[in-house]
Amino acid sequence: MNGVIPQAERLICVMVGLPARGKTFISQKLCRYLRWLNFNSKVFNVGNYRRKNFGVDMDHNFFDPENKEAQEQRRMAALEALNDVLEWFEKETDPMVPAIAIYDATNSTVERRKMILEFCSSKALKVMFIESICHDDELIMSNIKEVKLSSPDYVNKDPDQAAEDFKARIAHYQKAYETITEKDISFIKTIDLGTQFVLHLVQDYLQSRIVFYLMNLHIKPRSIFISRHGESMLNVKGAIGGDSDLSPRGRIFAEKLPDLIKKNLGDKKLTVWTSTLKRTIQSAEHLTYPKLSWKALDELDAGVCDGMTYEEIEEKYPEDFHLRDSDKYNYRYRGGESYHDLVVRLEPVIMELERQENILIISHQATLRCIYAYFLNLPRDELPYINIPLHTVIQLTPKAYGCEEVRYKL
Ligand code: F6P
Repeated sequence: MNGVIPQAERLICVMVGLPARGKTFISQKLCRYLRWLNFNSKVFNVGNYRRKNFGVDMDHNFFDPENKEAQEQRRMAALEALNDVLEWFEKETDPMVPAIAIYDATNSTVERRKMILEFCSSKALKVMFIESICHDDELIMSNIKEVKLSSPDYVNKDPDQAAEDFKARIAHYQKAYETITEKDISFIKTIDLGTQFVLHLVQDYLQSRIVFYLMNLHIKPRSIFISRHGESMLNVKGAIGGDSDLSPRGRIFAEKLPDLIKKNLGDKKLTVWTSTLKRTIQSAEHLTYPKLSWKALDELDAGVCDGMTYEEIEEKYPEDFHLRDSDKYNYRYRGGESYHDLVVRLEPVIMELERQENILIISHQATLRCIYAYFLNLPRDELPYINIPLHTVIQLTPKAYGCEEVRYKL
Protein backbone atom coordinates (compact mmCIF):
# COMPACT_ATOMS: atom_id res chain seq x y z
CA MET A 1 0.00 0.00 0.00
CA ASN A 2 1.33 3.44 -0.81
CA GLY A 3 -1.12 5.21 1.47
CA VAL A 4 -3.09 6.87 -1.34
CA ILE A 5 -6.81 6.77 -0.69
CA PRO A 6 -8.64 5.66 -3.85
CA GLN A 7 -11.02 8.23 -5.21
CA ALA A 8 -14.16 7.15 -7.02
CA GLU A 9 -15.21 9.01 -10.14
CA ARG A 10 -16.34 12.62 -9.84
CA LEU A 11 -18.50 13.77 -12.68
CA ILE A 12 -20.21 17.06 -13.30
CA CYS A 13 -23.18 16.99 -15.65
CA VAL A 14 -23.52 20.47 -17.10
CA MET A 15 -26.96 21.35 -18.44
CA VAL A 16 -27.12 23.46 -21.58
CA GLY A 17 -30.11 25.11 -23.22
CA LEU A 18 -32.40 28.08 -23.51
CA PRO A 19 -34.77 28.83 -20.61
CA ALA A 20 -37.92 26.65 -20.41
CA ARG A 21 -36.37 23.69 -22.24
CA GLY A 22 -36.78 21.26 -19.34
CA LYS A 23 -33.26 21.52 -17.93
CA THR A 24 -34.39 21.63 -14.33
CA PHE A 25 -36.82 18.77 -14.93
CA ILE A 26 -33.99 16.64 -16.34
CA SER A 27 -31.63 17.69 -13.53
CA GLN A 28 -34.06 16.77 -10.77
CA LYS A 29 -35.00 13.44 -12.31
CA LEU A 30 -31.43 12.44 -12.98
CA CYS A 31 -30.39 13.35 -9.46
CA ARG A 32 -33.25 11.35 -7.96
CA TYR A 33 -32.36 8.31 -10.07
CA LEU A 34 -28.67 8.46 -9.19
CA ARG A 35 -29.39 8.84 -5.49
CA TRP A 36 -31.80 5.94 -5.60
CA LEU A 37 -28.94 3.88 -7.04
CA ASN A 38 -26.85 5.01 -4.07
CA PHE A 39 -24.52 7.32 -5.91
CA ASN A 40 -23.73 10.71 -4.39
CA SER A 41 -25.66 13.27 -6.37
CA LYS A 42 -26.77 16.86 -5.99
CA VAL A 43 -28.24 19.58 -8.22
CA PHE A 44 -26.64 23.03 -8.18
CA ASN A 45 -29.06 25.53 -9.68
CA VAL A 46 -27.26 28.71 -10.69
CA GLY A 47 -30.55 30.66 -10.71
CA ASN A 48 -30.72 30.17 -6.95
CA TYR A 49 -27.26 31.73 -6.55
CA ARG A 50 -28.28 34.66 -8.75
CA ARG A 51 -31.42 35.22 -6.66
CA LYS A 52 -29.53 34.88 -3.38
CA ASN A 53 -26.87 37.44 -4.39
CA PHE A 54 -28.75 39.87 -6.58
CA GLY A 55 -32.37 39.51 -5.52
CA VAL A 56 -35.50 38.52 -7.42
CA ASP A 57 -36.61 41.92 -8.47
CA MET A 58 -35.19 41.99 -11.96
CA ASP A 59 -36.89 41.96 -15.33
CA HIS A 60 -35.79 40.50 -18.63
CA ASN A 61 -33.24 43.29 -19.18
CA PHE A 62 -31.04 41.61 -16.62
CA PHE A 63 -30.56 38.77 -19.13
CA ASP A 64 -29.70 40.98 -22.10
CA PRO A 65 -26.22 39.97 -23.32
CA GLU A 66 -25.52 43.68 -23.89
CA ASN A 67 -26.06 44.38 -20.19
CA LYS A 68 -22.43 44.08 -19.13
CA GLU A 69 -22.95 44.67 -15.42
CA ALA A 70 -25.60 41.98 -15.22
CA GLN A 71 -23.46 39.66 -17.31
CA GLU A 72 -20.69 39.95 -14.78
CA GLN A 73 -23.14 39.25 -11.94
CA ARG A 74 -24.39 36.15 -13.76
CA ARG A 75 -20.82 35.00 -14.26
CA MET A 76 -20.14 35.45 -10.56
CA ALA A 77 -23.22 33.41 -9.63
CA ALA A 78 -22.05 30.68 -12.02
CA LEU A 79 -18.59 30.64 -10.45
CA GLU A 80 -19.92 30.58 -6.93
CA ALA A 81 -22.06 27.56 -7.79
CA LEU A 82 -19.01 25.85 -9.33
CA ASN A 83 -17.00 26.46 -6.18
CA ASP A 84 -19.82 24.93 -4.18
CA VAL A 85 -19.77 21.91 -6.48
CA LEU A 86 -16.11 21.45 -5.69
CA GLU A 87 -16.65 21.89 -1.97
CA TRP A 88 -19.47 19.36 -2.09
CA PHE A 89 -17.25 16.82 -3.86
CA GLU A 90 -14.52 17.32 -1.29
CA LYS A 91 -16.48 17.58 1.93
CA GLU A 92 -19.81 15.89 1.53
CA THR A 93 -19.37 12.89 -0.72
CA ASP A 94 -18.12 9.42 0.11
CA PRO A 95 -14.75 9.07 -1.68
CA MET A 96 -15.46 5.39 -2.34
CA VAL A 97 -18.72 6.07 -4.17
CA PRO A 98 -19.00 7.84 -7.55
CA ALA A 99 -20.33 11.37 -7.18
CA ILE A 100 -22.28 13.26 -9.78
CA ALA A 101 -23.00 16.98 -9.48
CA ILE A 102 -25.64 18.35 -11.80
CA TYR A 103 -24.94 21.93 -12.73
CA ASP A 104 -28.25 23.43 -13.76
CA ALA A 105 -27.97 26.65 -15.75
CA THR A 106 -28.29 27.73 -19.38
CA ASN A 107 -24.52 27.50 -20.08
CA SER A 108 -25.53 28.50 -23.54
CA THR A 109 -22.35 30.10 -24.87
CA VAL A 110 -19.02 28.57 -25.84
CA GLU A 111 -17.33 31.06 -23.56
CA ARG A 112 -19.30 29.94 -20.50
CA ARG A 113 -18.68 26.28 -21.25
CA LYS A 114 -14.97 27.04 -21.67
CA MET A 115 -14.90 28.62 -18.23
CA ILE A 116 -16.54 25.53 -16.75
CA LEU A 117 -14.16 23.17 -18.55
CA GLU A 118 -11.12 25.11 -17.37
CA PHE A 119 -12.39 25.10 -13.81
CA CYS A 120 -13.05 21.36 -13.91
CA SER A 121 -9.86 20.27 -15.63
CA SER A 122 -7.79 22.00 -12.95
CA LYS A 123 -9.69 19.98 -10.31
CA ALA A 124 -9.60 16.59 -12.11
CA LEU A 125 -13.37 16.51 -12.54
CA LYS A 126 -14.93 14.74 -15.49
CA VAL A 127 -17.47 16.80 -17.42
CA MET A 128 -20.43 15.75 -19.52
CA PHE A 129 -22.75 18.32 -21.10
CA ILE A 130 -26.46 17.63 -21.45
CA GLU A 131 -28.10 19.97 -23.93
CA SER A 132 -31.87 20.15 -24.12
CA ILE A 133 -33.22 21.51 -27.38
CA CYS A 134 -36.92 22.00 -27.98
CA HIS A 135 -38.60 23.39 -31.09
CA ASP A 136 -42.17 22.80 -29.97
CA ASP A 137 -43.61 26.23 -29.11
CA GLU A 138 -46.67 24.75 -27.45
CA LEU A 139 -44.53 22.68 -25.11
CA ILE A 140 -42.35 25.66 -24.30
CA MET A 141 -45.42 27.77 -23.49
CA SER A 142 -46.88 25.07 -21.27
CA ASN A 143 -43.55 24.80 -19.46
CA ILE A 144 -43.54 28.58 -18.94
CA LYS A 145 -47.11 28.52 -17.60
CA GLU A 146 -46.85 25.42 -15.44
CA VAL A 147 -43.38 25.83 -14.05
CA LYS A 148 -41.74 29.16 -14.69
CA LEU A 149 -44.55 31.41 -13.51
CA SER A 150 -44.46 29.80 -10.09
CA SER A 151 -40.68 30.30 -9.86
CA PRO A 152 -39.41 32.70 -7.16
CA ASP A 153 -38.63 35.20 -9.96
CA TYR A 154 -42.33 35.84 -10.46
CA VAL A 155 -43.91 35.62 -7.03
CA ASN A 156 -46.84 38.04 -6.74
CA LYS A 157 -46.53 39.13 -10.38
CA ASP A 158 -49.38 39.25 -12.85
CA PRO A 159 -49.21 35.93 -14.79
CA ASP A 160 -49.68 37.51 -18.23
CA GLN A 161 -46.99 40.11 -17.62
CA ALA A 162 -44.74 37.45 -16.14
CA ALA A 163 -45.19 35.24 -19.23
CA GLU A 164 -44.33 38.19 -21.50
CA ASP A 165 -41.28 38.98 -19.41
CA PHE A 166 -40.16 35.37 -19.54
CA LYS A 167 -40.53 35.27 -23.31
CA ALA A 168 -38.41 38.43 -23.54
CA ARG A 169 -35.84 36.72 -21.33
CA ILE A 170 -35.71 33.77 -23.72
CA ALA A 171 -35.26 36.18 -26.65
CA HIS A 172 -32.19 37.68 -24.92
CA TYR A 173 -30.69 34.24 -24.48
CA GLN A 174 -31.50 33.37 -28.07
CA LYS A 175 -29.32 36.25 -29.30
CA ALA A 176 -26.24 34.77 -27.69
CA TYR A 177 -27.11 31.05 -27.76
CA GLU A 178 -24.54 28.70 -29.27
CA THR A 179 -25.55 25.05 -29.46
CA ILE A 180 -22.71 22.68 -28.58
CA THR A 181 -20.33 22.24 -31.50
CA GLU A 182 -17.12 21.88 -29.52
CA LYS A 183 -15.38 18.75 -30.73
CA ASP A 184 -13.37 17.58 -27.76
CA ILE A 185 -16.04 17.34 -25.06
CA SER A 186 -18.52 14.68 -23.94
CA PHE A 187 -22.13 15.55 -24.55
CA ILE A 188 -25.61 14.34 -25.19
CA LYS A 189 -28.18 16.50 -26.95
CA THR A 190 -31.77 15.59 -26.35
CA ILE A 191 -33.94 17.10 -29.04
CA ASP A 192 -37.69 17.63 -28.76
CA LEU A 193 -38.05 15.55 -25.64
CA GLY A 194 -36.63 12.27 -26.71
CA THR A 195 -37.50 12.45 -30.41
CA GLN A 196 -33.86 12.62 -31.35
CA PHE A 197 -30.52 12.31 -29.58
CA VAL A 198 -26.98 13.24 -30.48
CA LEU A 199 -24.23 11.51 -28.53
CA HIS A 200 -20.63 12.59 -28.59
CA LEU A 201 -17.62 11.10 -26.80
CA VAL A 202 -19.68 9.37 -24.11
CA GLN A 203 -16.82 8.02 -22.12
CA ASP A 204 -17.48 5.42 -19.51
CA TYR A 205 -19.99 3.19 -17.76
CA LEU A 206 -21.42 5.95 -15.59
CA GLN A 207 -21.89 8.32 -18.49
CA SER A 208 -23.51 5.66 -20.67
CA ARG A 209 -25.85 4.78 -17.85
CA ILE A 210 -26.88 8.43 -17.54
CA VAL A 211 -27.37 8.60 -21.30
CA PHE A 212 -29.53 5.47 -21.23
CA TYR A 213 -31.68 6.93 -18.47
CA LEU A 214 -32.14 10.23 -20.31
CA MET A 215 -33.15 8.35 -23.43
CA ASN A 216 -36.06 6.77 -21.56
CA LEU A 217 -37.64 9.91 -20.12
CA HIS A 218 -40.90 11.37 -21.33
CA ILE A 219 -43.32 13.94 -19.95
CA LYS A 220 -46.68 12.62 -21.16
CA PRO A 221 -49.25 12.77 -18.37
CA ARG A 222 -49.80 9.35 -16.83
CA SER A 223 -50.36 7.52 -13.56
CA ILE A 224 -48.54 4.68 -11.92
CA PHE A 225 -50.73 2.66 -9.59
CA ILE A 226 -48.96 0.45 -7.09
CA SER A 227 -50.52 -2.13 -4.82
CA ARG A 228 -49.43 -5.04 -2.74
CA HIS A 229 -51.15 -8.33 -3.55
CA GLY A 230 -54.27 -9.19 -1.59
CA GLU A 231 -53.77 -10.84 1.79
CA SER A 232 -52.07 -14.23 1.36
CA MET A 233 -52.31 -17.38 3.46
CA LEU A 234 -48.79 -16.71 4.77
CA ASN A 235 -49.79 -13.13 5.68
CA VAL A 236 -52.54 -14.62 7.83
CA LYS A 237 -49.93 -16.76 9.56
CA GLY A 238 -47.61 -13.77 9.96
CA ALA A 239 -44.90 -15.51 7.93
CA ILE A 240 -42.67 -13.80 5.39
CA GLY A 241 -41.89 -14.68 1.77
CA GLY A 242 -43.10 -17.98 0.35
CA ASP A 243 -45.44 -18.47 -2.57
CA SER A 244 -48.84 -18.99 -1.02
CA ASP A 245 -52.34 -18.45 -2.41
CA LEU A 246 -54.56 -15.53 -1.51
CA SER A 247 -56.64 -15.82 1.64
CA PRO A 248 -60.45 -15.40 1.37
CA ARG A 249 -60.00 -11.71 2.26
CA GLY A 250 -57.28 -11.44 -0.39
CA ARG A 251 -59.66 -12.89 -2.97
CA ILE A 252 -62.26 -10.25 -2.15
CA PHE A 253 -59.59 -7.58 -2.67
CA ALA A 254 -58.84 -9.10 -6.10
CA GLU A 255 -62.55 -9.01 -6.99
CA LYS A 256 -62.90 -5.36 -6.00
CA LEU A 257 -59.71 -4.12 -7.63
CA PRO A 258 -61.07 -3.69 -11.23
CA ASP A 259 -63.78 -1.25 -10.11
CA LEU A 260 -61.35 0.86 -8.16
CA ILE A 261 -58.96 1.12 -11.09
CA LYS A 262 -61.74 1.90 -13.56
CA LYS A 263 -63.09 4.60 -11.28
CA ASN A 264 -59.75 6.39 -11.13
CA LEU A 265 -58.45 5.72 -14.61
CA GLY A 266 -61.58 5.95 -16.76
CA ASP A 267 -61.20 4.46 -20.23
CA LYS A 268 -57.50 5.13 -20.55
CA LYS A 269 -55.12 2.35 -21.50
CA LEU A 270 -53.31 0.47 -18.76
CA THR A 271 -50.86 -2.40 -18.46
CA VAL A 272 -50.71 -4.54 -15.32
CA TRP A 273 -47.37 -5.76 -14.06
CA THR A 274 -47.21 -8.51 -11.44
CA SER A 275 -44.39 -10.52 -9.96
CA THR A 276 -44.11 -14.22 -10.79
CA LEU A 277 -45.54 -15.23 -7.41
CA LYS A 278 -49.05 -16.65 -7.11
CA ARG A 279 -50.40 -14.02 -4.74
CA THR A 280 -49.80 -11.16 -7.18
CA ILE A 281 -51.04 -13.08 -10.22
CA GLN A 282 -54.21 -14.08 -8.35
CA SER A 283 -54.70 -10.44 -7.30
CA ALA A 284 -54.68 -9.41 -10.96
CA GLU A 285 -57.02 -12.23 -11.99
CA HIS A 286 -60.15 -10.11 -12.55
CA LEU A 287 -58.41 -7.26 -14.34
CA THR A 288 -58.96 -7.26 -18.07
CA TYR A 289 -55.98 -5.12 -19.11
CA PRO A 290 -52.83 -6.56 -20.76
CA LYS A 291 -50.63 -8.21 -18.13
CA LEU A 292 -46.97 -8.93 -17.72
CA SER A 293 -45.17 -10.91 -14.98
CA TRP A 294 -41.71 -9.71 -13.95
CA LYS A 295 -39.31 -11.89 -11.96
CA ALA A 296 -37.68 -8.61 -10.92
CA LEU A 297 -40.91 -7.73 -9.06
CA ASP A 298 -40.73 -10.81 -6.81
CA GLU A 299 -40.55 -10.14 -3.07
CA LEU A 300 -37.23 -9.61 -1.27
CA ASP A 301 -35.63 -13.03 -0.98
CA ALA A 302 -35.46 -13.83 2.73
CA GLY A 303 -33.08 -16.77 2.13
CA VAL A 304 -33.02 -19.23 5.03
CA CYS A 305 -35.77 -17.22 6.74
CA ASP A 306 -38.24 -17.62 3.91
CA GLY A 307 -41.58 -18.86 5.23
CA MET A 308 -40.77 -18.06 8.88
CA THR A 309 -42.49 -15.58 11.21
CA TYR A 310 -40.45 -12.71 12.68
CA GLU A 311 -40.66 -14.45 16.10
CA GLU A 312 -39.22 -17.64 14.63
CA ILE A 313 -36.42 -15.68 12.99
CA GLU A 314 -35.58 -13.91 16.26
CA GLU A 315 -35.44 -17.24 18.06
CA LYS A 316 -33.45 -19.14 15.46
CA TYR A 317 -31.17 -16.34 14.21
CA PRO A 318 -31.08 -13.76 17.05
CA GLU A 319 -27.88 -12.17 15.82
CA ASP A 320 -29.24 -11.69 12.30
CA PHE A 321 -32.48 -10.35 13.66
CA HIS A 322 -30.64 -7.60 15.51
CA LEU A 323 -28.23 -6.93 12.67
CA ARG A 324 -31.22 -6.34 10.41
CA ASP A 325 -32.67 -3.98 12.96
CA SER A 326 -29.50 -1.92 13.10
CA ASP A 327 -29.09 -1.53 9.32
CA LYS A 328 -32.18 -2.71 7.56
CA TYR A 329 -31.23 -1.26 4.17
CA ASN A 330 -27.93 -3.11 3.90
CA TYR A 331 -28.71 -6.26 5.88
CA ARG A 332 -28.69 -9.27 3.55
CA TYR A 333 -30.64 -12.37 4.64
CA ARG A 334 -28.47 -15.49 4.77
CA GLY A 335 -28.75 -16.93 1.29
CA GLY A 336 -31.09 -14.10 0.35
CA GLU A 337 -31.17 -10.40 -0.42
CA SER A 338 -30.91 -6.96 1.14
CA TYR A 339 -32.94 -3.88 0.26
CA HIS A 340 -29.87 -2.65 -1.56
CA ASP A 341 -29.85 -5.83 -3.67
CA LEU A 342 -33.49 -5.22 -4.40
CA VAL A 343 -32.85 -1.69 -5.67
CA VAL A 344 -30.24 -3.09 -8.05
CA ARG A 345 -32.66 -5.82 -9.18
CA LEU A 346 -35.41 -3.25 -9.75
CA GLU A 347 -33.39 -0.86 -11.88
CA PRO A 348 -34.65 -2.29 -15.20
CA VAL A 349 -38.21 -1.99 -13.86
CA ILE A 350 -37.65 1.71 -13.13
CA MET A 351 -36.12 2.23 -16.56
CA GLU A 352 -39.11 0.59 -18.23
CA LEU A 353 -41.53 2.50 -15.98
CA GLU A 354 -40.00 5.75 -17.22
CA ARG A 355 -40.74 4.71 -20.81
CA GLN A 356 -44.30 3.57 -20.19
CA GLU A 357 -47.58 5.41 -19.68
CA ASN A 358 -50.31 4.09 -17.29
CA ILE A 359 -49.13 1.08 -15.33
CA LEU A 360 -50.56 -0.85 -12.39
CA ILE A 361 -47.90 -2.74 -10.45
CA ILE A 362 -49.13 -5.50 -8.17
CA SER A 363 -46.15 -6.60 -6.18
CA HIS A 364 -44.88 -6.93 -2.63
CA GLN A 365 -44.12 -4.82 0.40
CA ALA A 366 -40.33 -4.59 -0.01
CA THR A 367 -40.29 -4.17 -3.80
CA LEU A 368 -42.96 -1.48 -3.65
CA ARG A 369 -41.05 0.36 -0.96
CA CYS A 370 -38.12 0.62 -3.39
CA ILE A 371 -40.31 1.80 -6.27
CA TYR A 372 -42.16 4.27 -4.07
CA ALA A 373 -38.88 5.67 -2.70
CA TYR A 374 -37.71 6.28 -6.26
CA PHE A 375 -40.79 8.30 -7.19
CA LEU A 376 -41.01 10.18 -3.90
CA ASN A 377 -37.25 10.76 -3.69
CA LEU A 378 -36.96 9.26 -0.22
CA PRO A 379 -33.57 8.56 1.35
CA ARG A 380 -32.31 5.02 1.75
CA ASP A 381 -32.56 5.11 5.56
CA GLU A 382 -36.30 5.64 5.31
CA LEU A 383 -36.87 3.24 2.43
CA PRO A 384 -37.19 -0.06 4.37
CA TYR A 385 -39.76 1.48 6.72
CA ILE A 386 -42.12 3.06 4.18
CA ASN A 387 -45.71 2.25 4.97
CA ILE A 388 -47.22 0.20 2.11
CA PRO A 389 -50.29 -1.43 3.68
CA LEU A 390 -52.23 -4.35 2.26
CA HIS A 391 -55.45 -3.65 0.34
CA THR A 392 -54.42 -0.11 -0.51
CA VAL A 393 -53.83 1.16 -4.03
CA ILE A 394 -51.44 4.09 -4.30
CA GLN A 395 -51.77 6.31 -7.35
CA LEU A 396 -48.59 8.18 -8.25
CA THR A 397 -48.81 10.98 -10.79
CA PRO A 398 -45.43 12.36 -11.86
CA LYS A 399 -45.37 16.16 -12.04
CA ALA A 400 -42.70 18.59 -13.27
CA TYR A 401 -40.56 18.47 -10.14
CA GLY A 402 -42.06 15.68 -8.05
CA CYS A 403 -44.89 13.27 -7.76
CA GLU A 404 -48.46 13.53 -6.51
CA GLU A 405 -49.86 10.70 -4.45
CA VAL A 406 -53.37 9.49 -3.62
CA ARG A 407 -54.11 6.38 -1.55
CA TYR A 408 -57.30 4.34 -1.97
CA LYS A 409 -58.15 1.83 0.73
CA LEU A 410 -60.22 -1.19 -0.14
O1 F6P B 1 -44.62 -9.72 5.48
C1 F6P B 1 -44.86 -9.54 4.15
C2 F6P B 1 -43.58 -9.26 3.39
O2 F6P B 1 -43.91 -8.95 2.05
C3 F6P B 1 -42.52 -10.39 3.42
O3 F6P B 1 -42.71 -11.37 2.45
C4 F6P B 1 -41.23 -9.62 3.29
O4 F6P B 1 -40.11 -10.36 3.70
C5 F6P B 1 -41.53 -8.45 4.17
O5 F6P B 1 -42.89 -8.12 3.96
C6 F6P B 1 -40.69 -7.25 3.88
O6 F6P B 1 -40.85 -6.32 4.93
P1 F6P B 1 -39.69 -6.10 6.01
O7 F6P B 1 -38.50 -5.79 5.19
O8 F6P B 1 -40.18 -4.94 6.82
O9 F6P B 1 -39.50 -7.34 6.82
